[in-house]
Amino acid sequence: MNHPGTRKPLTVDHLIAMKRGGDKIAMLTCYDASFAQAMDRAGVDIVLVGDSLGMVVQGRDTTVAVDVEDVAYHVRCVSRGVTRAFLLGDLPFGSYYDETVAMESAVSLMQAGAAMVKLEGAGPMVGVVDYLTHRGIPVCGHLGLTPQSVHQLGGFKVQARDEAAAAQLREQAQALQDAGAQLLVLECVPSALGGQVADALRIPVIGIGAGAACDGQVLVMHDMLGLGERAPKFVANFLNGATSIEDAFLAYVRAVREGQFPAAEHSY
Ligand code: KIV
Repeated sequence: MNHPGTRKPLTVDHLIAMKRGGDKIAMLTCYDASFAQAMDRAGVDIVLVGDSLGMVVQGRDTTVAVDVEDVAYHVRCVSRGVTRAFLLGDLPFGSYYDETVAMESAVSLMQAGAAMVKLEGAGPMVGVVDYLTHRGIPVCGHLGLTPQSVHQLGGFKVQARDEAAAAQLREQAQALQDAGAQLLVLECVPSALGGQVADALRIPVIGIGAGAACDGQVLVMHDMLGLGERAPKFVANFLNGATSIEDAFLAYVRAVREGQFPAAEHSY
């Protein structure tokens, strides 16, 4: 595992410079130190300790039962494995419903080793983003399919298909950036919309099922390694044809950087 002083992590400035330079950002979810080491060696730029851990690690049907201590535990594990990758921690369901609660939750993840926290939604969340970013907490937004609202959305499905919903999403993305968000995850939206949001914003937009024109891509690690019974359309199995798990991570990084992933078949 890494030793104090040996870390040379990427910063938000690096990520913004990558966007400006047209260099695609490769991001994966990660939940433990060994996979974090392999991702770091393979050149994954951002590792996200996602609340998807509720599904792929804890075996639940949704992410709703995950709590801050669950995420903090996995952030601590991952932080011991990365030297270069930027470490993003997910604020779970119910942990940021107002400014004070969000601050307490975000502090826990930052103290566990996260360099930034991610939260879902806009509307009242814009005020929360403003509050956190003015108090030293870097924030990543998450729009489109927001899995913590799965019961409200009526399932895991593509969002913002019509022009009114697309216009609303573009406004929400701008509002999050204006409130101080420095990164945005955009999940399961039509590719054209993904490109419009990435073009309009100064901050990097990382897509998952949001098309190739985003500034970077993210996948859940278990999905891209071919685990799980039914992969969503936006997933490719990078273990196919790879000689090891680390080789699969390398293939993913290469495919994202070269613009080969996602292809049209992975997009909406
Ligand atoms: O929790 C997670 O893994 C995520 C990704 C799907 C972006 O939020």
